[in-house]
Amino acid sequence: MSIKFPFSTDQSEILATITNARVSVMQTKMIGQCTPTDKELEQIFKSAMSVSDHGQIHPAQFIIIKGEKTQAFIREMYRIKLVENPNFLLSEAEYVTNFSGVGMFIVAYADIKECNIPAYEQEWSVAASIQNMLNLCYAFGYAAKWNSIYKHQDGKIKQYLNVKDHWVSMGYIMIGKSADTAKKKNRPNVKDHFITL
Ligand SMILES: Cc1cc2nc3c(=O)[nH]c(=O)nc-3n(C[C@H](O)[C@H](O)[C@H](O)COP(=O)(O)O)c2cc1C
Repeated sequence: MSIKFPFSTDQSEILATITNARVSVMQTKMIGQCTPTDKELEQIFKSAMSVSDHGQIHPAQFIIIKGEKTQAFIREMYRIKLVENPNFLLSEAEYVTNFSGVGMFIVAYADIKECNIPAYEQEWSVAASIQNMLNLCYAFGYAAKWNSIYKHQDGKIKQYLNVKDHWVSMGYIMIGKSADTAKKKNRPNVKDHFITL
């Protein structure tokens, strides 16, 4: 007899299979500027709201960049990169080409609330939101990757996106489509990472 509730064994197995098979796909391998459908996006966004959230602080804030806004964002990232490193090796055209298959960006922030829940817990909760979205993108057959926004670029990107100064940057997700979602990845041995007392 199964004690599973409310999901069937089949449903649980499907979730485990998808979660354990998920891989990141480089932006250079994304093709066609595909984006999830509105229905899929609704589920993806809901997954970000379905994470552990100590104290129900709801610190996650996301900026969605898609359609014609995508090109402008990529060019802005290049401009910001050049300010920080004038000797950056790639030309603007080469940099833009690297992102040319990306269909959308989700830039993630933690709006840290002053309260008894430590800031780091609020940030971890947003990280969990990002991972949930990566998993669901993969489940719907989209390529996705999480990139950091480095500290020296942070302020300028916040200015460009018109977000609050105190929001903590958690990086951004790129979403697209790619045959690479079918790649298999060697994972570390579970035994090396779990110690049973
Ligand atoms: C917090 C975080 C930040 C990351 N930032 C970057 C980044 O700035 N640039 C990059 O190329 N990849 C970045 N990655 C992506 C990882 O490199 C990528 O997930 C990994 O190489 C592939 O593993 P996977 O296929 O199991 O996801 C980041 C991942 C995490 C978790």
